[in-house]
Order: sequence, then structure tokens, then C-alpha cells
Amino acid sequence: MNTPGMKPTAIPFPPMPVCPRPLRRVHGAAGRSNKPHPDPAGEPKIQRMSLLIKNGEIVTADSRYVADILCVGEVIAQIGRDLPAPAGAEVIDATGKYVFPGFIDPHVHIYLPFMGTYSKDNYETGSQAALIGGTTTLIEMCCPARSMDALEGFETWLAQAEGKSACDFTFHMGVTKFDAGSETQLREIVRRGISSFKIFLAYKGAFGIDDTELYRTLKLARELGVVVTAHCENETLIAERQRELLAAGKTDPSQHHESRPPRVEAEGVHHLMTFAELTGASVYIVHLSCEEALVEAVRARQRGVKVGIETLIQYLVLDKSYAERPNFEGAKFVMSPPLRDARNQAILWNGLRDGLIQTVATDHAPFDFVGQKPMGKEDFTKIPNGIPSLEDRITLLYTEGVTTGRIDLHTFVNVASTQAAKQFGLFPKKGTIQLGADADLVVFDPHHAGVITAKTQAMNVDYSAFEGWPIKGRPSLVTVRGEVAVRDGKFVGTIGRGKLIKRTPQRN
Ligand code: URP
Ligand code: ZN
Ligand code: ZN
Repeated sequence: MNTPGMKPTAIPFPPMPVCPRPLRRVHGAAGRSNKPHPDPAGEPKIQRMSLLIKNGEIVTADSRYVADILCVGEVIAQIGRDLPAPAGAEVIDATGKYVFPGFIDPHVHIYLPFMGTYSKDNYETGSQAALIGGTTTLIEMCCPARSMDALEGFETWLAQAEGKSACDFTFHMGVTKFDAGSETQLREIVRRGISSFKIFLAYKGAFGIDDTELYRTLKLARELGVVVTAHCENETLIAERQRELLAAGKTDPSQHHESRPPRVEAEGVHHLMTFAELTGASVYIVHLSCEEALVEAVRARQRGVKVGIETLIQYLVLDKSYAERPNFEGAKFVMSPPLRDARNQAILWNGLRDGLIQTVATDHAPFDFVGQKPMGKEDFTKIPNGIPSLEDRITLLYTEGVTTGRIDLHTFVNVASTQAAKQFGLFPKKGTIQLGADADLVVFDPHHAGVITAKTQAMNVDYSAFEGWPIKGRPSLVTVRGEVAVRDGKFVGTIGRGKLIKRTPQRN
């Protein structure tokens, strides 16, 4: 029986291309830089460039007003009306536009050896796509195989990002086993600035951990004040149902949902809640997709379990009929947990509006429709799980959430930026607009009208799950720590300028 996951001894992976590159700007960017410049006497001195964004409507999770923002070097130095431009400053007119804090995607896969293949983006393509979509910081899942030690896993994932990412980044450290050496190594990784773990209750025999490992991971996390993010599905139920469906000749992509119905996810959440309750650990449910799972999480919260909840843009706008499309087209929409009945969408939107659900992420996991998804042409359990959406999260959330009145502008900022920063120790450096915060800003044009298509996307994958969707509004200008990275919707940033944002544990 095939179960999704990676088994390095059984499945030979193609070698992953590694391409270390120096910092470089692309597409003829304006040439602003915060790097040290030597002065005529040969002494290096810091040249703190400035950027003045004028007359935008600033919207944070809890405020809304028209003002100018002066960024000096990497941070926000002044906010006020009619601020004078310092000599040499670049001035951006944001009249008629919103200015949002840089968006944060708390659940992304860039480097993902998975199900016998690799996800398609690397940090060059992925971070450009993130920035074009308004995401200035991403949190990647570091997912080492069970055969790899935690420290080696961390260093492997870090090497993929450092010197290649154009946006800022950090990791949830995947705990894919908990053996004698794990504890010391996990402590060291936390010392290096990682304050969240990731565990999988699914993917039996691959990333999945058993209950002893789960208990020990949560105990350690509780001691360290680290948040444990979790993929919640019952792996035994999945394996048994997959076996039965295949034996009955049910092999097409639509069967993916039948193998992991809502109760399978709810059981995973219930399980995690029990362990979190008894260990006192702070946990965070990733990619929650349905009412049944939400009910389990909220019940646990009511009895005192410290739990954050994330849903995905896919679950808010797509439903399981997409994965039922004929001629294997449904494979484009195979992910775990699966897309659900459309009735769940209103429940998730309401959960965001009412604060039951904290964040909207992507779980970006791009696999080509030609060449990768067909690995499961005869057997749905072999279709690489995942949907590409890193570039589209913000425009879809704005179009389908704000312009329809499902959520207001503050909730939009809160669930797409501020809450991710608060849950994972990035706030207030990231996730808001205030003096001293990193100058990660999104100037958003609400009057733009466009259409999503794979033909123009920056994500390195051959299809879009949202092909032909009309979009209202887009990030027109995006800054990362004071440097313009997107102008008129086009990437103009610096490959390799993105940095690991070190975090300290905060919750216990
Ligand atoms: O289908 C999904 N979600 N693929 C990525 C791996 C995971 O479970 O997050
Ligand atoms: Zn997952
Ligand atoms: Zn994921």
C-alpha cells in the first residue's frame, strides 16, 4: 500500500539542483541599496537610504488613517501628515491606495522532497512569487526525512534559502522523529532562532511520528516555550481506506477525498488536542479545512487548550468538485486534507470573521500537471499532494473576502499578516505598521482588475489552480526592509537579500 511520504531508501530522488548565487538585482531595478558604501577616504560607512510613501490609506489590524510613511534604512522612521522628503529619498505617491503591513505566509513549502519527487519552486522563483503576491515574509516547513537528523535537516533547508531568497523567511522545524539525539539537536535549533516545530500525524512511514514521539515533542516544546504546528489527520484510517478503495478499483483523483473524509481530519485534531491538554504545550493546527475539525479545536480551546488555527486560501474559494474533474484534471487539486464540500467555505469565512480561525496560509506545494501529478495516474495515492498558491493568496483573499463583504479590511490584514506575526514571534517587527518596525509594506491598488493565469505567474509550475479567476486589486508596490521589491506588480527586488528572521520562544 502506498502512503504519501518520502522513503529515501525505497524511492530514489532525482538530485536537487543547488545554485548558490551572489546578491543581484533583476529587471533593471532602481539601484537603491542599504549596503555599506565606502566613502572617499576608503572607510566603509552605512548609507541609510530613505523612502517616503505619501498619502496612502494605512490599514493595520486595528487602525485606518491617511498618512505618509518615511522609511529610513530598513525600518519605519516616521508616520505623519505632510512629511518632508529627506535629500535623496525616493517618493512614492500612494494616493487612492491602501498601505498594508507586509503579508506573512505561515505555511509554505519551497524545498520539499515528497512522494518520490520534489516540489517545483526554489527560493529564487518562490520568493519572487511571494513578493509579487504581497508576501514579504514566509515561514517554510523544514521537513527532513526520518533518516536525517534534525540539525542536518535544518542546515539543509537553510542552505536552500540563504543567499537565494528575495523575501525574509524563517522555518517551522519539522520533528519527523524523536530519538536519543533529537532533543539536544532541537534545543540547538531553537538557540539558532527557530521557535516553532512542525509535526505530522499523517504520512505514515514517512514524516509521520508515533504517539510516544508526539508526547515527547510536546513536552520539550512546553519546556522551551516553542509552538508546535501540526498536520492533523488519522494516518491509520487513511491507510485502511486507501487500501479498500484501490481494492475496489477506485483509482481516480476524486477518491483522494473518500480516503480522508472530514472525520479523519477531525480525529487527527481530537488526538492532538488530547496530547496538548495533557502536556500543556501550545499548538497550532495547520491547513484546517472543515467544520468537523473546527468543532474539535474550538471544544478543546474552551477547556483551556492553547491552540491556534490556520486555514488555507484554497479551502475558502475551492471545493471538492474541482478534484472530481474528469480526464485526470482533478489531480491539479489533490492536496491533504482534501478540498471539501462547498458548505464548509461559509464556516471558514465566518471563523475568520469571528476570530475562531487566526490565519490564512497557502501550504504552497507546487507539482507540475505534466510530469509530476501523473505519477498517480493509475493510483490516486501516488499523486503528489499539493496546490500552488503562494502568489495568489492576497489577491484572492481581498477579491473573495473583502470586496464581497465576507471579512472587513482589518480582518484581512489580521489573518494574512498580524496574527501570523503574533503566533510565531515576529510581532511587532513584522505584521504591523508602526515606528521601528521593519519597513515591509504593501501599497495595494484596489482599482486594479486582472485575471489569474499560469501564463504570467512567477511560480515555477505549469498550471494554476485558479486559472481564469478575475481579481480585484493587487499589490502594486512592495518593500522588504525599506527596499522596493515589486513595482507596478513586477519583481524588481534583490535575489539573496531576504534573511532568516531569528525568533525567540515566547509561549508556554
Ligand atoms: O497536500 C499537501 N498539503 N501537501 C504538502 C504537504 C503537507 O501536508 O503540508
Ligand atoms: Zn500538511
Ligand atoms: Zn504543508
